Amino acid sequence: MKVLVTGANGQLARSLVERASSRRHLELVALGRPSLDLAQKGSAASAIERTQPDIVINAAAYTAVDQAEHEPQLAFRINAEAAGEFAAAAASIGAPIIQVSTDYVFDGRTREPYREDSPTHPLGVYGATKLAGEDHVRAANPRHAIVRTAWVYSPFSKNFVRTIIEAARARDVLTVVDDQLGSPTSALDLAEGLIRMVETWTESPQLGLGETFHLAGSGVASWFGVAEFVMSECHKHCLDTAKVLPIRTADWPTKAVRPSNSILDSRKFEAAFGYTMPAWRESMSAVVGRLADEGAVLGG
Ligand SMILES: NC(=O)c1ccc[n+]([C@@H]2O[C@H](COP(=O)([O-])OP(=O)(O)OC[C@H]3O[C@@H](n4cnc5c(N)ncnc54)[C@H](OP(=O)(O)O)[C@@H]3O)[C@@H](O)[C@H]2O)c1
Repeated sequence: MKVLVTGANGQLARSLVERASSRRHLELVALGRPSLDLAQKGSAASAIERTQPDIVINAAAYTAVDQAEHEPQLAFRINAEAAGEFAAAAASIGAPIIQVSTDYVFDGRTREPYREDSPTHPLGVYGATKLAGEDHVRAANPRHAIVRTAWVYSPFSKNFVRTIIEAARARDVLTVVDDQLGSPTSALDLAEGLIRMVETWTESPQLGLGETFHLAGSGVASWFGVAEFVMSECHKHCLDTAKVLPIRTADWPTKAVRPSNSILDSRKFEAAFGYTMPAWRESMSAVVGRLADEGAVLGG
């Protein structure tokens, strides 16, 4: 089975490639810039034409949440229009598409974990463009699955866990917001879940199509809690550590407003595809350990 993955250099695409490498029945073709530039109209159709995939996973996105406030048109182009173009191009060859989306489609004003049918209300441009992307995909290809995730980290690329480890090399004290709650998600676990979904389709090709799912790490944390945990894991691996102090969001102004509750309820995915996301601490511990072993905390 051939799976086309977009955003080849991103956390999720790299995790998908790694997790699929041991599955002989899966051929993953990961495309990214410069060969696939979603800012260009027609790029999706030509990628589908070239690769003729059985399934598409759209993992590419404009993910710079604050910068998106300054570049709403570019963010909309990549997160909404191009996602729709990929869905349409996939539909033209009868292929289903998994569109990866975000907790930032919600405003965070409830205290409960968000379910798939909870009302959406993005607070910023990034969330609004990703929500529009969901709609474009739904409209362009009935054989879609929208999978929303949250707070993604991995051994790869830029993410909060790597940023904290690097900051602790430079500073003795770090201040981190303690009033935003979420579900930290290892991109490797997310990739595993998406691969299980794809594998399920060989037996049950209609399962979950036309639906929306949440898939995020099990358990809840604040960014402060994540930073403290990362420091405790760094200590175990003899990496530099820093003291972490909690602050409030109001003390750390950012261009984009973030939801104070980003907790996603992943039970619908679990029931449909028989895959439970590991506890976030377990997965984060493994990622910090891997970074320590590889000595690869800095750089790509
Ligand atoms: N990261 C999170 O915390 C988070 C949370 C919720 C949902 N998500 C969603 O999860 C998915 C995967 O995220 P991730 O963490 O893997 O993101 P990531 O590491 O930022 O990767 C995104 C990829 O998209 C690519 N991209 C950006 N603009 C592009 C363009 N014009 N043409 C082609 N590719 C382009 C980037 O390419 P370059 O490498 O060339 O820049 C990058 O490789 C995305 O849909 C994201 O919205 C992420």
